[in-house]
Parts: sequence; C-alpha cells; structure tokens
Amino acid sequence: MSTILAIETSCDETGVAIVKNRQILSNIVASQIDLHKTYGGVVPEVASRQHLEAINPCLEQALQQAQLDWDSIDGIAVTVVPGLVGALLVGLTTAKTLAIIHNKPLLGIHHLEGHIYASYLSEPTLEPPFLCLLVSGGHTSLIAVRGCGDYTMLGGTRDDAVGEAFDKTARLLGLGYPGGPAIDRAAQSGNPHAYSLPKGKVSRPGGGYYPYEFSFSGLKTAVSRLVKELESEGKLAVNDLAASFQETVARSLSDRTVACALEYHLPTIVVGGGVAANRTLREKLTQKGEAQGLQVHFPPMKLCTDNAAMIACAGVQHYQRDQISPLTLSVASRLSLTEASNLYLSTVQC
Ligand code: KG4
Ligand code: ZN
Repeated sequence: MSTILAIETSCDETGVAIVKNRQILSNIVASQIDLHKTYGGVVPEVASRQHLEAINPCLEQALQQAQLDWDSIDGIAVTVVPGLVGALLVGLTTAKTLAIIHNKPLLGIHHLEGHIYASYLSEPTLEPPFLCLLVSGGHTSLIAVRGCGDYTMLGGTRDDAVGEAFDKTARLLGLGYPGGPAIDRAAQSGNPHAYSLPKGKVSRPGGGYYPYEFSFSGLKTAVSRLVKELESEGKLAVNDLAASFQETVARSLSDRTVACALEYHLPTIVVGGGVAANRTLREKLTQKGEAQGLQVHFPPMKLCTDNAAMIACAGVQHYQRDQISPLTLSVASRLSLTEASNLYLSTVQC
C-alpha cells in the first residue's frame, strides 16, 4: 500500500489530496474561477498570489479530512509541468519544503499523466494497455498507454485545444467563462441538429484526411460567422447554436477515438481532462465504443477538471516503481508527455 500526498497548482485551482493506492482519502480543491471570471480568463499573476494564500489551508484540510499525520505519508507528489510557471512554482516550493522537513521522497508529476490516471480512482482493476483521449483547456490528444511512462502519441489537434474551442465559442455566444460548462448547460435546451458545422478534419496533401488529427479553429470561425449573420437577422438562438457546436465536437472526437482504438487493437478507451465532463461527449463516446465491443471509462465528473487526487494517483504509480525526483527539480511551462521520464532520477519501466 502506498499513501501519497499531492499538490496541484498548474492553473486556477489549488488542490491538495491524499490517495492510498487508488482510494481517495481526501481531495481539497480551492477554485479561483470566480476571481478570474471578471477578466474573462485566467490572469497568471493573480493565480500565483491566490495559490500562495490557499495552499496552507488546503494542506491542513487534506490531512484533517484523511485523519492522517505525516508518519503515514509515503511520498509527496506535485505537478511541475505543463502550466503557468509562477503558479507551478508555488506548488513545487511547498512540496520541496515538506519533503525536506518530513524526510519524504519528492515525485514531480506531468499534469497530463494526472488526467490519464484519474480513471484509476474509480476503476480498481483498470490497467494498460488502453487508448487515452485527453481533452482539456490546453490539450487534445490520442495517446496509446502501454504501461506507466510508456506513451505513444497517435493523434492530436493542429490548432486550438478542444477546451479552448469551448471557451472561445462560449465567448462568441455571450455565455461567459469558463465556456465548457456554460455551453453544456445551454445545449441541454437546444436542438443539436439546428446547424451544420465543419467536422474539423485535417486534409492530407494529395487527398483524403489524417484519420486522427483534429482542427477546431475552422469550427470556431464558422460559429463566429453564423452568430453575426443570425444576429443581423434577429434570429440568433444561442441554445441551438451551443447544442449544434457541442454535437459536432462530440461526434468528431467519438468517431476518431473509436476508429483509433480499433486500428491499434486497444480494447479500452479512457478519457481524461476537463472536457471529459461534457455530457454529450460522455453519452456519444460510450455508445459508439460499446457498440464496437470496446470498454469506455470516464472519470467521475469531479475528477475530470483539475484536482490533486489524480496527481496523487499518478504519484502512486511512480512511487511504486521507485521513480523519485531530485530536490533540484524545477518547473516548466511545457514538456511533452513522452519526455516525462526526465522528471525522475531512475527511469525503470514496468
Ligand atoms: O483539465 P482542465 O480542468 O484544465 C486544463 O488542464 O486545461 O480543463 C479545463 C477545460 C476548460 O476549457 C473548460 O471549459 C473545459 O475544460 N470544460 C468543459 C466542461 N467542463 C469543463 N468542456 C465541455 N463541457 C464541460 N462540461
Ligand atoms: Zn488539466
């Protein structure tokens, strides 16, 4: 049994959690969304200061809720990449200090690995190989997961990430920030077939399409054009447009993910990232995947968006493989998932 305390401060949620193997003992999330709402998006400097205020109370609460003291903690996991550098630094400095004071190993975690392992928290027997559809505010990727640290990129976006497309489209529709949940809500009372929108396919030179690539910028432009046209005619039905956008995105993600899993003989699909909370995507991908004999796992809603429990869960995987980070570890705004093994002193793979 491994008990890991984790800290997540990569964007606008301060998270501290304690996980024992795959069981959540506590999961504290202090969201800054209301603070950033006024600006229509995340302001990095505001985020760093807010993490600094929230981190100690979150730590206290996490230990209290889990009813544990430091003796029972095996290691300290912390998100170090990718994210806002100032925000990440608050988490890493806290984690290093705790690691030194309590003499615990430090585990630097790639944020996207956290999203990949979020489903482990509700699926006690889930193991690789599987295909992960990672859909967040910064990423849209299809990743073959064949073991912890064994990741192959099979597809991704050529421009906007899907969460970014939700956020920008919501702004065009006057639905506010964050856009994903706002579109999801508006779409519930809209007609998903009211408008036909581009499917975001990426053309291959010489003809045809790249099967597992996505492009969301054309979709956003099409919505922008439609909004102007319908507004000038006084016919803008926001809910119908939100529902049509959501339907188009969910269909394009589901079709390509299922085709990819079948082609690469990956029997299970695991979805991670904030957009995994989308109701239409959950319904469509589950239906399509199961119709093809695939298993489809979405994390519980609360574990789709940023949280420290998923970081602790990834931490458990590395701790059990003796993959410990040096105390000289630093943060970075970017690092590909396939380079995540660079965060550890030893890179033993199982
Ligand atoms: O994973 P996440 O919390 O942060 C990043 O790592 O980026 O994802 C945030 C993204 C935002 O773009 C947000 O609009 C989107 O996830 N999102 C949703 C939903 N809930 C959050 N998108 C669609 N439908 C939702 N229900
Ligand atoms: Zn995230």
